[in-house]
Amino acid sequence: MPHAYPFLSPEQKKELSDIAKKIVAPGKGILAADESTGSVAKRFQSINTENTEENRRLYRQLLFTADKEIDHCIGGVILFHETLYQKADSGKTFAQVIKGRGWVVGIKVDKGVVPLAGTNGETTTQGDVTDAVVVVVVYQGLDGFKMKRCFQYKKDGADFAKWRCVLKITPTTPSSLAIKENCNVLARYASICQMRGIVPIVEPEILPDGDHNLKRCQYATEKVLAAMYKALSEHHVYLEGTLLKPNMVTAGHSCSHKYTSQEIAMATVTALRRTVPPAVPGITFLSGGQSEEEASINLNSMNQCPLHRPWAVSFSYGRALQASALKAWGGKKENAKACQAELIKRAHANSKASIGKYEGGGAGAAAGESLFVENHAY
Ligand code: 13P
Repeated sequence: MPHAYPFLSPEQKKELSDIAKKIVAPGKGILAADESTGSVAKRFQSINTENTEENRRLYRQLLFTADKEIDHCIGGVILFHETLYQKADSGKTFAQVIKGRGWVVGIKVDKGVVPLAGTNGETTTQGDVTDAVVVVVVYQGLDGFKMKRCFQYKKDGADFAKWRCVLKITPTTPSSLAIKENCNVLARYASICQMRGIVPIVEPEILPDGDHNLKRCQYATEKVLAAMYKALSEHHVYLEGTLLKPNMVTAGHSCSHKYTSQEIAMATVTALRRTVPPAVPGITFLSGGQSEEEASINLNSMNQCPLHRPWAVSFSYGRALQASALKAWGGKKENAKACQAELIKRAHANSKASIGKYEGGGAGAAAGESLFVENHAY
């Protein structure tokens, strides 16, 4: 029987659960703007823009200063380390700008995937926060440098964090080793975050690569999520102070059969109902290479699905919120308003979808385009 070490006070629990609820308040979701410098390079390449620190700042500034009419659509924004410490032209830090709009500031704390030895091309995820746990365990309570860094993020304005693990569907994967390892890493990260007043977003993403059908993805998603919540329980993670960021249950990108959004919604909500406890306040999907319009329509179908959903079902989109905005910007100052107009359109579409009221037709510059990237890294 695991010993329930009481590491969170009632006040700490309240703080965590208040933050999580604020992010997924009705009609709100997350703008994932935490692309690593390497991922931004690929995005900027598509619009012939140089990947400099200043260009990254200018682009993110456009996202974070879009008209206040989207204040009610966004609950939180996930930032990359560099962005947390950049400033807007006004002299305010981006964290201050985001908070000023009533949005919660988040920070990506993982450092990307690394090969998992002994598997057929599967991976685990590395990062500072997990290293900190190793320090704590090994030195029995000594606070390591990296542990302090997690706390530093809280001081610098971040109230939630994201850590992404990746699983793959092939005839032999996800293996039970990859599932166990990735869920354990995510649970260790989640518990460290909570001790520091940071709400962890737990992201066990199953990639859409492959030609598998919908049922196969549903089966893998159920196995991964069941293991995820077992690991979170073993690590005494306070579920009310967490958010889940899963893949939607979809067929593989190269599957020849096309499923309707209602079929996708039914398979996804069924998988979630079988595995995610009602104590979890919100599920914020990643878009995973779906086109902007597809991601909005699928989310809307989940929220219209006849099955009861005890959690908020919303979005934490990167590509599906930004693709049209990026394209409209094209790296040019004179396109600032056009860029923001596209973001506003997607934010409205997804806000409506998160309450089942999106009627479609919000397509913008890139809204119908597939955003699939093979073996996607963030
Ligand atoms: P996409 O919505 O582009 O899949 O990214 C969201 C994200 O944060 C993945 O970690």
